[in-house]
Amino acid sequence: MLNCRWPFALGFVAAVAIGSVCAVLPAAEPASDDWQAPARAARKKNPIAADENSITAGKATFVKECLSCHGAAGKGDGPAAKDLTKSPGDLTTAKFWQQSDGAIFWKITEGRKPMPGFDQLLSEDQRWHVVNYLHSFEAKDKK
Ligand code: HEC
Repeated sequence: MLNCRWPFALGFVAAVAIGSVCAVLPAAEPASDDWQAPARAARKKNPIAADENSITAGKATFVKECLSCHGAAGKGDGPAAKDLTKSPGDLTTAKFWQQSDGAIFWKITEGRKPMPGFDQLLSEDQRWHVVNYLHSFEAKDKK
C-alpha cells in the first residue's frame, strides 16, 4: 500500500513545482530590461525651445545632478558609475534617440533605481532644459 502512495506524493510535489514555474514565467517575460516610458508620457511635447539660454541652463543642471553617473559626454562613465548596481547606459546612441523628448522627460522625472527621480529635485522647466541639453550628445554621435 505504502508503495502506491509514494508516486502520488511525488507527482503532487512535481505538479506544484511545475505549476509555480509556469506561474512565474509568463509574469517575468514582459519585464524586459528595456526601460520604456508610457505612451501618454512619450507623446508629451517639449514646451521649451532649445535656444542658447535653455541649453546653458540644462548644461548647468546636468553637470550638477547627472554628470557623476552619466559622465560629461553622456557615455555612462561618470566617476560614480562604477559603484552603481546598474550601468547608466549611453545617452549618445541612435537607439537612445529613438525616443521622444517626452519619454526622456518622463524618465528624468520618475527615475529608476539606482537613478533617482527628479520630480522634487528639479522644476519641470529645469527638466526640459536638461532634455534640450542632452540633444548636444545626439549631434556628436551623428558626426
Ligand atoms: C546615481 C546615478 C545617476 C544619476 C545622478 C542620474 N542618473 Fe540617469 N540613469 C542612471 C542609471 C543607472 C540609469 C539606467 C536605469 C535603468 O535602465 O534602469 C539611468 C538612466 C537614465 C535615462 C534613461 C536612459 C535610456 O536608455 O532611456 C536618462 C534619460 C537619464 N538617466 C537621464 C538622467 C539625467 C538627465 C540626470 C540628471 C538630472 C540623471 N540621469 C541622473 C543613473 C543616474
